[in-house]
Amino acid sequence: CSLFSVLCSLFSLCVTEHSLQGFWFFVSVCYFSTAPRRPSHFYSNTTDAVKDIPDGATILVGGFGLCGIPENLINSLLKTGVKRLTAVSNNAGVDDFGLGLLLKTKQIKRMISSYVGENVEFERQYLAGELEVELTPQGTLAERIRAGGAGIPAFFTATGYGTLIQEGGSPIKYNKDGTVAIASEPREVRQFGDRDFIMEKAITGDFALVKAWKADKAGNIIFRKTARNFNQPMCKAAKVTIVEVEEIVDVGTFAEEDIHIPSVYVHRIVKGENYEKRIERRTVRKAQAETAKPKKDADVVRERIVRRAALEFEDGMYANLGIGIPMLASNFIKPDISVYLQSENGILGLGPYPTEEEVDADLINAGKETVTVLPGASYFSSDDSFAMIRGGHINLTMLGAMQVSKYGDLANWMIPGKMVKGMGGAMDLVASAGTKVVVTMEHSAKGGKHKILEKCSLPLTGKGCVDRIITEKAVFDVDRNKGLTLIEVLEGLTPDDIRKCTGADFEVSDACWEM
Ligand SMILES: *[C@@H]1O[C@H](CO)[C@@H](O)[C@H](O)[C@H]1NC(C)=O
Ligand SMILES: *[C@@H]1O[C@H](CO)[C@@H](O)[C@H](O)[C@H]1NC(C)=O
Repeated sequence: CSLFSVLCSLFSLCVTEHSLQGFWFFVSVCYFSTAPRRPSHFYSNTTDAVKDIPDGATILVGGFGLCGIPENLINSLLKTGVKRLTAVSNNAGVDDFGLGLLLKTKQIKRMISSYVGENVEFERQYLAGELEVELTPQGTLAERIRAGGAGIPAFFTATGYGTLIQEGGSPIKYNKDGTVAIASEPREVRQFGDRDFIMEKAITGDFALVKAWKADKAGNIIFRKTARNFNQPMCKAAKVTIVEVEEIVDVGTFAEEDIHIPSVYVHRIVKGENYEKRIERRTVRKAQAETAKPKKDADVVRERIVRRAALEFEDGMYANLGIGIPMLASNFIKPDISVYLQSENGILGLGPYPTEEEVDADLINAGKETVTVLPGASYFSSDDSFAMIRGGHINLTMLGAMQVSKYGDLANWMIPGKMVKGMGGAMDLVASAGTKVVVTMEHSAKGGKHKILEKCSLPLTGKGCVDRIITEKAVFDVDRNKGLTLIEVLEGLTPDDIRKCTGADFEVSDACWEM
């Protein structure tokens, strides 16, 4: 700068139009040769990199489950002892790792998350009124952060329309006596075309704590496999972005076109001291040919649903499958068709569980299980993943349900009075206009209570969003205006048998056949 201003004043009087170009070239050469471009600051340890985060700060913390979390930066916050943090993070870690550690020391005042299910201390603090929790659908959370980084103050999304998210009033903080101290705000609703959308506001942070794979010495960074997730949008949405990496490499080690985050977004870089990379659900492929065990009734019911659900797959389809029955259905995809499985934490082209040797902490699915990918697969960030989902690019979503109404309302995320783990990505998955939504579930709940109803009694995941219901007894098509049509019944049952065990009216298709 000083070199620039000195030269500027010296030359400003005598510069002609013609020599101006040469002058600028001279200035840039001087600048780049005397001062290597290092807009990012490199720190020698993670504690030094976070020591100025003040009490009451809002921090954006990358990661999905325990995958790609800034574990060293989080450990350093234990040392600095900063308090009253608002932590924006998809999950809350586990009791003794990740953000769970900062919950235990009560350094967090509020969490903004989509799913907080694996943490006992979290549950205790929330129900005791010691912790504030703003549950936000996963895709909405990713897009709020993306918007924050892109200078967009708010946006409209179909996700959460007709649910507690839109209506407001869900508890953010409880009083000691169990009454609600702070409730969520209702959202503004607007129609575009013939669909309803709600307004969601951008999220920005004072600091972003990000975990990346490598940084080059110019401050550009790249991520590894599914460890990208929320780290990528968070880099762009904070005043100060602090990135911990496994390796700092020379410029040119990775190509310019492979850079995930350009240096302009990266303010501090530090090599993490130690990587445990804990795995939440270590799942491995079993060795061949287990002897068939005698099946329990519940297994028979489950397998019947799984096998029928597998018939939903068509050649060339892109599908997102929920944990449990939907995921199991992928084992029965006909061998002559190709189906591309999407996992909302950032994979297209999901493969089977890994062998022991293939297990990789940076490669998990949305159920936080270790997985593999097939040739031709790709990885992407959480905001990209939900753009894919919300934008209707995924052909099929299959998921479980606690209740489905006659007109396709779905309830599968919350039982009031019990622990609320969060909706994860379910509200986003069912709100997409271009995606067929298939529910797989047992026909009735324990004790014979109806799950298919005139109207859901549980809080909704989505309104008028289900296209088909598959149970062990029947298959229904669901129309948002006309209601249910029975299209298949189990061999040996009649439509009248189905009426007796179903809590809603339905038509019977002329072409109704055996499942
Ligand atoms: C971290 O780095 C700072 C600045 O270089 C140094 O003063 C401090 O002693 C370091 N702390 C540890 C634990 O290495
Ligand atoms: C999947 O959806 C795309 C549009 O997003 C469509 O062009 C394609 O035909 C669909 N594929 C299948 C197998 O349904």
